[in-house]
Amino acid sequence: MMRNLTFKNNDQMPALGLGTWKSEPGEVFTAVKTAIKEGYRHIDCAPIYGNEKEVGEAIAESIAKGIVTRKELWVTSKLWNDAHAKADVIPALSKTLKDLQLDYVDLYLIHWPVALKKGVLFAQTGEEMVSLADVPLAETWQGMEKAIDSNLAKHIGVSNFGIKTLQNLLSNCKLPPEMNQVESHPYLQQNNLRSFCTSNNIFLTAYSPLGSGDRPDALKTADEPQLLTDPVILQIANKNKVSPAQVLISWALHRGISVIPKSVNPGRILQNLQASQLILSDHDMKAIGKLERDYRYINGKFWVLEGGPYSLEDVWA
Ligand code: A2P
Repeated sequence: MMRNLTFKNNDQMPALGLGTWKSEPGEVFTAVKTAIKEGYRHIDCAPIYGNEKEVGEAIAESIAKGIVTRKELWVTSKLWNDAHAKADVIPALSKTLKDLQLDYVDLYLIHWPVALKKGVLFAQTGEEMVSLADVPLAETWQGMEKAIDSNLAKHIGVSNFGIKTLQNLLSNCKLPPEMNQVESHPYLQQNNLRSFCTSNNIFLTAYSPLGSGDRPDALKTADEPQLLTDPVILQIANKNKVSPAQVLISWALHRGISVIPKSVNPGRILQNLQASQLILSDHDMKAIGKLERDYRYINGKFWVLEGGPYSLEDVWA
């Protein structure tokens, strides 16, 4: 089964990484240290998660203790929406690198195809947003390309981009994006996006692979489907004597997709890593394939504000 994604320059990205969104300061230090000690070599970060400094301390301590070398680690981070202006990209990345105590990230992504005014973390009103007509993604991308030229990032990509947004970028860039990180799990398999990305040499990373059960209540709906207790997932888990989370993680890996389950619990951190040893039969893969229901746990509605420049169709275009 796929363990690494091999980039054009032969760099290897471990397909299974540790997610850190919702990992609180005060718990993410131990989570990252535990993960590295158990064998994780890929950590997914972002400044908007509010914990990069603590992630950086855990990485630094793991390196200092000789548990891992910088070269053996794959660290991803992301450009927040308030720094889309071309001149703001390198300063934002520099701040992330300082917090992470690193000289470079392995992968740097545009977090959303949505722009906010400088200093705005989450917009409350439409006026706090900036339209892509004013700050085109192609210009943001020039800042991303500069990160490569300055050796601050080894690879660059995007997150939450749909096909149309990607097509636009592909026809307006020097270096093509190498990654698109999007929500993906059996209820949102992203089959069209996956084919498009495959034919354009863009890898996918699946976020919220376990259904993001710990996200804020404001992002939840009352009757949402539950991946971890889905009868088909449960049945496959029981048959293979593994947990439902392990089935979900293994399913992504079988599709050649990177996957970044979040956990701050030592037992579950280890359990999730061990999912890479699980082999699912074609029969199991087909049964899971039938669970598609086009369901987003992260529906993007928080970018659609009265008087703001974005519709939901724009966000996922
Ligand atoms: P915890 O951090 O306490 O382990 P996602 O990656 O889709 O965002 O899901 C994260 C949520 O899933 C968190 O609530 C996390 O809790 C939980 N989780 C992580 N690993 C497992 C697991 N192996 N079994 C059940 N729940 C898990």
